[in-house]
Amino acid sequence: MVHGSQGAPVVGQSSATCVTPLRWAGGKRKLVPLLKQFLPTHIPRIVEPFFGGGSVSFGIAATSSMGADTNGELVNFFGQSATHGQDIVAILRSLHDDRDTYLQVRDWSPPTDVERAARFAFLNRTGYFGLYRTNQKGRYNVPYGGGGRLNLDTFAKGMGELEEVMRRVSVEHVDYLDLMARVTGGDVVFLDPPYGASGDYPFRRYGSLLFSPSDHRRLAAEAERCRRLGAKIYITLPTDPSLLRLYQGWTVVGERRRGNQLVEVCLTHEPTGCRDMVSSGQWRVPAQVKIVDESEDAPLTGTDF
Ligand SMILES: C[S@@+](CC[C@H](N)C(=O)[O-])C[C@H]1O[C@@H](n2cnc3c(N)ncnc32)[C@H](O)[C@@H]1O
Repeated sequence: MVHGSQGAPVVGQSSATCVTPLRWAGGKRKLVPLLKQFLPTHIPRIVEPFFGGGSVSFGIAATSSMGADTNGELVNFFGQSATHGQDIVAILRSLHDDRDTYLQVRDWSPPTDVERAARFAFLNRTGYFGLYRTNQKGRYNVPYGGGGRLNLDTFAKGMGELEEVMRRVSVEHVDYLDLMARVTGGDVVFLDPPYGASGDYPFRRYGSLLFSPSDHRRLAAEAERCRRLGAKIYITLPTDPSLLRLYQGWTVVGERRRGNQLVEVCLTHEPTGCRDMVSSGQWRVPAQVKIVDESEDAPLTGTDF
C-alpha cells in the first residue's frame, strides 16, 4: 500500500520481505538480521518515521508498515514502485550508465510521476555513493559515481519483489512527528534519525533540511510518549554522549564498530532475550549495557525545547 500525497492507505495484504533497491546513506540493511533476534515473530505494525531506503519495513515481516520521509522524490519513488515498478525498469533500460547521460538525467525535469521515480532511481544507482544532496535551489547536485553500479537485472528483480511488499507498506511525505502522532500500543517503531559526528550540527547530509540538537530532544520526548503508550521502540544513534543521555535507562542491543572504534549503537527500552548471538556486517549484539547519564545536568524535560 502507498502513498505520499494522494489516496487513503490500503490495508496490507502481504507478509513478503525484500531488500531495498536503493543505495541509501546510513541504510540499516545490515542491522535487520540482528533486530529479528529481538522482535516477536508476529508484528501487527512497523512504524518507520525516518524511512530512507526502508530497510526495516521491507526486511521484517509485519501485517502492515507505515513510513514517513521529508524527501519528496524518495516518497514518490516508493509510491510509483507499488504499481509501476516495471515501467521504472523500462525507462532505466533505455539509459546508458555514463557521465553524459547522468548529467542529462540530472538536469531533466520529468513531466510525470513515473518518470520522476525513474530519474530518482537512475541517479541513486549511478550517482556518487548513492548520496542525496541538493543545492540551495533544491536541485540534486551529486556528481557521477563512475559506473558499474546500475546492475539492471538485479534492480529489475528487486523491483518485482518490492511491488509485492508495497502491498503492506505505506510511505508518506510528512515530518516524522506527524507519523509518531499516530503510533499506538503494540506498534514496533524503528527510529533512524539523521546525525553526524559530534559538533557536526546542524546536519545537512540529506539535502537542505536540518536535524538539530533540539530536534533530537523533541524526538526523545516523542519516543518516551510512544513507549508509555505500549509501543516497542528501537533507535540507532552515534556514540555521542549529548544524544545518548536523552535515553537514560535504555539498553544497547546492537553496536557497530569501524575497526576497534564503536561508532553507532541501537537502543531499546525493554530488551527481550536475544535468540542467538549474531553479527551482521559491522553490526553485532553486545553484552547488553544500560545508558546511564553521569553528567551533572538536570534531566531534560519537554520545556527544554
Ligand atoms: C539515516 S536515513 C534512514 C535510513 C533508513 N533507516 C534505511 O535503512 O535506509 C534518515 C532519513 O530521514 C529523513 N528525514 C530527515 N529529516 C526528517 C524529518 N524531519 N521527518 C522525516 N524524515 C526525515 C531523510 O530524508 C533520510 O531519508
